[in-house]
Amino acid sequence: MVTTSFTHPQLFCRAGKSAKNKTVLAPLTHNMSEDNGDLSSDEMAWLSLCARGGFGTLILAATQVQTGGRCWQGQPGLMSDYQQGQFAKVAAMARGHEVLTLVQLHHGGVRASVELNGRAPMGPSAIPPGGRYPLGVQEMSGEQIAELKEAFVHSAQRAFEAGLDGIELHSAHNFLLCNFLNPTLNQRSDEWGGSVYKRTKLLRDIIAEIRRRLPRNFIVGVRLSPESYANVRGIALSHQMEVANILAEQDIDCLHFSLGDSFKAPDEGEGSSLLANIREGFIGDIPLMVAGKIADGLSAQQALHLGADMVAVGSAALGNPDWFNRVSTRTKLIKPPFSRKRLSLNGFNAKGLEYLLSVPGLVATPDDAQA
Ligand SMILES: Cc1cc2nc3c(=O)[nH]c(=O)nc-3n(C[C@H](O)[C@H](O)[C@H](O)COP(=O)(O)O)c2cc1C
Repeated sequence: MVTTSFTHPQLFCRAGKSAKNKTVLAPLTHNMSEDNGDLSSDEMAWLSLCARGGFGTLILAATQVQTGGRCWQGQPGLMSDYQQGQFAKVAAMARGHEVLTLVQLHHGGVRASVELNGRAPMGPSAIPPGGRYPLGVQEMSGEQIAELKEAFVHSAQRAFEAGLDGIELHSAHNFLLCNFLNPTLNQRSDEWGGSVYKRTKLLRDIIAEIRRRLPRNFIVGVRLSPESYANVRGIALSHQMEVANILAEQDIDCLHFSLGDSFKAPDEGEGSSLLANIREGFIGDIPLMVAGKIADGLSAQQALHLGADMVAVGSAALGNPDWFNRVSTRTKLIKPPFSRKRLSLNGFNAKGLEYLLSVPGLVATPDDAQA
């Protein structure tokens, strides 16, 4: 089998837009936006380094679409004219480097912060107070679901008006769109629950409405988690493949699986590789994007060999915003944990560094320096 190279262009066939190569900056929350979600000059500096660094596509960090859905104090928002104007600057900057730019649209759902939103989180079904939900989770009414759909579509319209190439709907990692897919969290017996197909209704409705309002060359992607992870239960590969194949029929442009590790074995079923199983089970004729331990050119090429069409780079990009330029010229990559000096050169301010420090293994400690 001949695998194409990650340096080759990638066509989003349904939208008719082409990325200059198959590498993608994975969505990376940086916590550097202002407290009201306005973009900061530091995050723009970071994104500009990534745009210059050779990636074919940038996916901007999880971005708030509705009050009440906030998860991080420094999370960007795309809910006001001012914010739209700031995204327009990012779009213009990226276009200057011939990079496609998508913004990841997000609502925290059961993971939304009580502290930042001043209210109990909401989800498809109620969860009584206790444990990780001190105020419980409020079950969404039909009216709230309609408002939420409108919020996603409205932010997508803002992304289009700002000149971005598209959006990615964040339906992974136990956030709201993922909560609706999860049979453990979605116990509804109305039109939004009860079967796999019905659990995809919210996503299908958002996609259909974006398609109704915006030109067909606007890219719409969806990010999914393939399996349960950490202490989040209820997502299984066979279920998520059904979801992926339903979504691929909904006129989306790419399916992005957040794998954690692109080379791991599946939790469920046969086969030595989760990614190979996904490739085999995915019948959509749209690009399949994957993220998880794509650290260097070799791993990028291996993921393509296992069946990915596009590879998204997360942690490695934090220390190497010029990741593509380095790997395509065989220049040495800087390895994690990254020094604070390196990260601040890449645009991470004190808030950004504090956030990265909360993720094990990303930022060097004084002990690493001595090792
Ligand atoms: C600091 C940090 C921030 C992240 N923020 C997001 C995010 O906003 N949205 C999202 O879907 N995934 C997010 N992720 C997950 C990454 O997109 C990616 O899937 C994950 O890091 C695995 O890829 P890697 O092994 O290359 O790091 C984040 C990961 C890290 C390390």
